Amino acid sequence: MADDINNPDSGNTGKKNEEDMSTSSLAAVAAGRQSHAPATQALGVGLEARGVHAWFGDKHVLNNISLDFWPGTVTALIGPSGCGKSTFIRTLNRMHEFIPTAALAGEVLLNGEDVYAAGVDVTKIRLKVGMVFQKPNPFPSMTIAENVLAGLKLAQLKVENKDDLLEECLERAGLWKEVKDRLGTYGGSLSGGQQQRLCIARSLAVRPQVLLMDEPCSALDPGSTLKIEETIQHLSSSVTVIIVTHNMQQAARVSDYTAFFLSDGGPGEMVEVGPTSEIFSRPKDKRTENYVTGRFG
Ligand SMILES: Nc1ncnc2c1ncn2[C@@H]1O[C@H](COP(=O)(O)OP(=O)(O)O)[C@@H](O)[C@H]1O
Ligand SMILES: [Mg+2]
Repeated sequence: MADDINNPDSGNTGKKNEEDMSTSSLAAVAAGRQSHAPATQALGVGLEARGVHAWFGDKHVLNNISLDFWPGTVTALIGPSGCGKSTFIRTLNRMHEFIPTAALAGEVLLNGEDVYAAGVDVTKIRLKVGMVFQKPNPFPSMTIAENVLAGLKLAQLKVENKDDLLEECLERAGLWKEVKDRLGTYGGSLSGGQQQRLCIARSLAVRPQVLLMDEPCSALDPGSTLKIEETIQHLSSSVTVIIVTHNMQQAARVSDYTAFFLSDGGPGEMVEVGPTSEIFSRPKDKRTENYVTGRFG
């Protein structure tokens, strides 16, 4: 997979000067990207994690994570496998608690309100904070159109014109042109990259404020990866995006902010967060620098 070139998991063999070059080019990529200021649209006040801890049984896997996600920005979560990135994003839409043995402490505020407060409807949180997984998971025996509209009943959203919503969501997901003449064919008939964009369209149909993406391109070829990245760029004006990625180039290309997670034998911690161009050009912590330069992973 071409991703491997930029994957610190597989990029530990380069000589020092090559590593330095690759970091300065990452910094250039990040700096070249037009960053978003927090959006002025009616996107709420955003999502905030406050002192989040997570456990599986006795095992403490996340330690005291506090992180703000500003409306209309893209935040990349990076760090070695096992440091708790997936667990952390599952705490943001209350998926963590559905794993047997899972426990949690801390607060997650969406528009200033704790999503874990007593009486909060979990289904509503999942609709406001949507999720796209590593492996595209369209409903294979539903048509493309049915897939996109599949969440509407659950969301109890009043939709005046389903055809308009269908087109809008497929357009925003960057898939409309490719599928507009075959909306009645099965979702399973699409390529992997198209299926992933179909899953994005399906998430958008219920009008989420936040979209969580857990390594959404790791199963895709480079061309499909670029299409998803373009889609993320377009979406970020209307949705707050949080993306886990092992691909440093991808973090540099798509994100406004980057947070580096690390587990050093104990539970995963957030080492630092900042504007992506700074994380790649002048990280504050030596461990971040070592990671983004591919010295470990
Ligand atoms: N369902 C689970 N049950 C028990 N332990 C888990 C489960 N999922 C993840 N873990 C553990 O939690 C830690 C963090 O995992 P994860 O969030 O998947 O990390 P990452 O996404 O950064 O690779 C790891 O030690 C992992 O083994
Ligand atoms: Mg993971």
